[in-house]
Amino acid sequence: MALQAPEGTKDLLPDEAKFWSHFKATAADIFGRYGYVTIETPLFEQTELFVRGIGEATDVVSKEMFTAISGENLNRLLDGGTIKAKSRLSLRPEGTAGVVRAVVQHDLVPQGAAPAKLMYAGPMFRAERPQKGRQRQFNQIGIECLGAEDPSVDAEGIIMLMRFYAAIGIPVEATRLLVNSMGCERCRPAYRDAVKAYMDAHADELCDECKRRAEINPLRAFDCKNPGCAAVMEHAPKITEHLCDDCREHYDAVKTYLGGAGLAFVEDPKLVRGLDYYTRTVFEVQVTEGMGSQNAIGGGGRYDKLAEEVGGRPTPGFGFALGYERCAIALQAAGFEFPSAQRCDFFVACVGDSVRAEAFSLMQACRDAGMTCEMDHQHRSLKSQFKLADKLGAAIVAVMGPDELAAGQVKVRNMRTHEERTADIAVMKSLLAHFGGESFGSPGALEAALSKLDAE
Ligand code: HAM
Repeated sequence: MALQAPEGTKDLLPDEAKFWSHFKATAADIFGRYGYVTIETPLFEQTELFVRGIGEATDVVSKEMFTAISGENLNRLLDGGTIKAKSRLSLRPEGTAGVVRAVVQHDLVPQGAAPAKLMYAGPMFRAERPQKGRQRQFNQIGIECLGAEDPSVDAEGIIMLMRFYAAIGIPVEATRLLVNSMGCERCRPAYRDAVKAYMDAHADELCDECKRRAEINPLRAFDCKNPGCAAVMEHAPKITEHLCDDCREHYDAVKTYLGGAGLAFVEDPKLVRGLDYYTRTVFEVQVTEGMGSQNAIGGGGRYDKLAEEVGGRPTPGFGFALGYERCAIALQAAGFEFPSAQRCDFFVACVGDSVRAEAFSLMQACRDAGMTCEMDHQHRSLKSQFKLADKLGAAIVAVMGPDELAAGQVKVRNMRTHEERTADIAVMKSLLAHFGGESFGSPGALEAALSKLDAE
């Protein structure tokens, strides 16, 4: 049997790959207006970064990381040896930890500097059970703002994300924006204790995993998919009733900014997110229909302690990531089809092999002038060449035959209007060379130039 792509991965075929490029370009355009610039970090990092940054007790770190191991180190392990801590590597399950590591390593936010506003796009890896909208390799676009703790950063980030969805074609009415505050190191410990006490009191109604969670990280129980646990956690103490004054003020300011921008949102005190680095604001965007259970198309929040966690000086942060594949599912559910990646301005068809060299040379002149040009490379009949030109969407076909070539000419057919005229090859080439792609590179411009030639 022919080999298949690994489970939980997906090929982006040319039409979709072209859309993914457009998706990234749209994000870069919109996020750029808010001051975000691109950063590229490695696809793998020291495992310790994710353990310290994301949290050892999270599902992402404890169950879903792909370990990257060199052949040499694998042999060492198989021989019963150990490998050095810095050689313990994992494929990135998300982008935040790597970006914060880079900010700290390169001191991108020196004391007193303006915040670093960074964006990234690329694959992330999580060994989850694959299902619709949940892959083991998936693409995220994310932003991270390091160095400012003002709620305006959180609000502009959320607004920017919602503007992006609208620009890419996911209507705001099809989404639900959930917001919450996770508190800070001052108010959260008491809240955690309250949740733990509540869970202990309901221990016989909780799954084994949640009983364990109660000991290590009780807030994770809010994410449990077990219906019994969900019913118990529904009535657990709410973080919003435990926020300190500063956290409440921050949360209120974020909501005021969002409301001022006309964004509808739902406060969800059970929204805790699956990563341990969050402080204060957390949010998630869900699509309400056609997605199945994996309906979160993006999410993020504030992480004011993460830089210290990875060894840097105190540097507040805020960010989010959106999942490309889930956005594509949402778009397709609404009837969107990927436009064809293929494009052809000009096709040069040959009547027999004797004209191929001259046809090849005309094609090259067109390409050098900035046009997308193609010819047949399989010695097809003229009829099949026209079919191919049609399939490629060629606006103009030049037909080169031995008789025309002897007179230094080609027949040029407009495929939309089916009008045909004869053009002088040497004049066409000099027009192409002279005017280049700008004024000659589109079918319309070529038509205009040829009509001018006719008139002369
Ligand atoms: P996250 O919620 O884990 O956050 O992932 C963000 C988005 O990535 C999700 O909303 C979803 O659309 C997509 N996603 C996650 N896992 C999968 C998967 N297995 N298959 C397909 N899509 C997936 C983060 O990753 C944080 N780093 C966001 C952040 C940035 N917080 C602060 N800064």
